[in-house]
Amino acid sequence: MDYRKKYLEFFASKGHAILPSASLIPENDPTTLFTGSGMQPMVPFLLGQKHALGTRLADAQKCFRSGDIEEVGDNRHTTFFEMLGNWSLGDYFKQEQISWMWEFLTSEIGLDPENLYFTCFRGNEELGIPRDTEAAGLWQKLFAEKSIDAQIVDFPERDGLQGGRIFYYSEKKNWWSRSGVPGNMPVGEPGGPDTEMFYDFGADRKLHENSDWAAEVCHVNCDCGRFVEIGNNVFMQYVKTEQGFEQLPQKNVDFGGGLERMAAAANNNPDVFTTDLFKQLRESIESLSGKTYGDRAEETFAFRVV
Ligand code: SER
Repeated sequence: MDYRKKYLEFFASKGHAILPSASLIPENDPTTLFTGSGMQPMVPFLLGQKHALGTRLADAQKCFRSGDIEEVGDNRHTTFFEMLGNWSLGDYFKQEQISWMWEFLTSEIGLDPENLYFTCFRGNEELGIPRDTEAAGLWQKLFAEKSIDAQIVDFPERDGLQGGRIFYYSEKKNWWSRSGVPGNMPVGEPGGPDTEMFYDFGADRKLHENSDWAAEVCHVNCDCGRFVEIGNNVFMQYVKTEQGFEQLPQKNVDFGGGLERMAAAANNNPDVFTTDLFKQLRESIESLSGKTYGDRAEETFAFRVV
């Protein structure tokens, strides 16, 4: 199934103009050497400039994140990837975004709601940014429509799932800006709380011969690979100023989800390198090296690095 096409068609049906991927080399933007997220070419429009194609936009943006280079070799990190994105430039907000995402994940690409988990922003009084009870409540209602009683847990640190499906985390996890947490943002930079979406590949799966997910105290943000973040809905409504955070002139949505990871979730296989996107590369390395992808852990690691 062509998930890229499905995503773009879905958002076109919700009134979005579909844009081509911008260049991997940012234009008129000295902040990074490479485009690292779908929102990067959208920054002027998130800050209030009018976009010629309107207030609902979507694309599949080629991205390069050198910051992830040390992670490459596991089941889910790549430095180059395609980010499926949609934006509301002061148009729709949490209600529409969350229900469309749910529809896309559960009806369009057929993910089982039993395998879905979400995180939301816990709030920070010092910054004057409230807890995102609205996003958590919207996810909970959607679960209820599928007869799933989704508990909301104020997640302390690393104590496992505690019977929850929706978790509140601090700005370390549920705040998004190009510079990370609020304290690192330069004046003029937009940012906001986010709600992240995770797919559970199941505690009984084994990622490689040495892994045992069932034996780990695992939670959605754990690094073991059982849970994979498949997308991030940022409610980009703030801008950093000398005085602290102020509301942007418009409330925006900035969604980004990894095409490779969504395909892995739809295939219910935690290894993104087994998706069709990497087929030719896997086969070329197999014929050059005489090794078979997936046979042995160190070789699998080496394939992924190449
Ligand atoms: N900007 C957010 C991200 O890169 C969502 O698009 O994760």
